[in-house]
Amino acid sequence: HPKALLRTIQEDGDFLVKLANQHIVSGDQFDQDTMKQLFRLAAKIESNPKRFSSPLQNKILISAFYEPSTRTRLSFESAWHRLGGDIMSITDRSTTGIAKGECLADVAEMFNNYGDCVVLRDNHESSLFEMMDALRIPIINAGNGVDEHPTQALSDMYAIFKWRPTLINPEENDKIKIGVIGVPNKMRTVRSFLKCLSVFPHAVDELVIIHDEASTGELFGQGQREELESRGITIRTVTDLDSVLPELDVVYINAISWEGDTFNTYGSAFHLTAKSPLKQDAIILHPLARGDELSTDLDHTSHNWYFSQARGAVFLRMALLTCMVERAERVIDVV
Ligand code: CP
Repeated sequence: HPKALLRTIQEDGDFLVKLANQHIVSGDQFDQDTMKQLFRLAAKIESNPKRFSSPLQNKILISAFYEPSTRTRLSFESAWHRLGGDIMSITDRSTTGIAKGECLADVAEMFNNYGDCVVLRDNHESSLFEMMDALRIPIINAGNGVDEHPTQALSDMYAIFKWRPTLINPEENDKIKIGVIGVPNKMRTVRSFLKCLSVFPHAVDELVIIHDEASTGELFGQGQREELESRGITIRTVTDLDSVLPELDVVYINAISWEGDTFNTYGSAFHLTAKSPLKQDAIILHPLARGDELSTDLDHTSHNWYFSQARGAVFLRMALLTCMVERAERVIDVV
């Protein structure tokens, strides 16, 4: 329950004030204290969402999703609605001037006139940066090609800390083994997740990357493995899922990666089912959408934390949006 996490984190609003009017581009923007305070605010909102029904009244979100999305678009829009704001949604770039060759800087200049915040998903990595140069309102990267998806990673970490609040504070001396099924270099969710995880090295006994044999040479993007190891995280790479499953406390699985105008599936040789040799109290996280890698027969087991992970993303995004668009100290004051 979010209240257990709430009790674990000391309140300190100063860290959240830093998020006001900031663009959210990458998982590596968040230090440990900022993430903790964000999770605290998310847990506060999740415990009593009705108390936060008005911070974004009269504010407009521009929700621009040029690549398919179920969870990210709808949970951002749900979060904004729950905070009392209004939304303009674009789900196809061909309905805008982009179809006539309008440059992204000009589109961004217009966004400045029409809204208070932009959430962008684009299959091109560079679109986000082209828009940022012209924007005077904050933009959130909701997935830019294979590069990053930072708010998914924050939601993943929020799910882990709700499951086991003792992991969040170094002085608790609690550690877990985390297995990641996927290719960090090819998957934006995994890349951003590892960036956020690296800020809590005290909580990681070992990080095990489970990949198919074909992807050995290109597992990590530039410098990511070195960054994780320099923070003290021990990394093992394996190709046999079932042999390592009995050791893992958290299993993070993802198979689909958007590349260009279509998607690729990595690690489709891997399957998690109710018969997999999971630890009794292990949890499974998956950013979804799922394919054959995650069997629906796990949905009604205690291993299923992927639905809770998706639900918690609404509250995490409510917390982030209030800090970016409304002054965080005002939000904290009202609770
Ligand atoms: N987790 C995630 O990014 O899901 P969607 O593609 O449905 O937004």
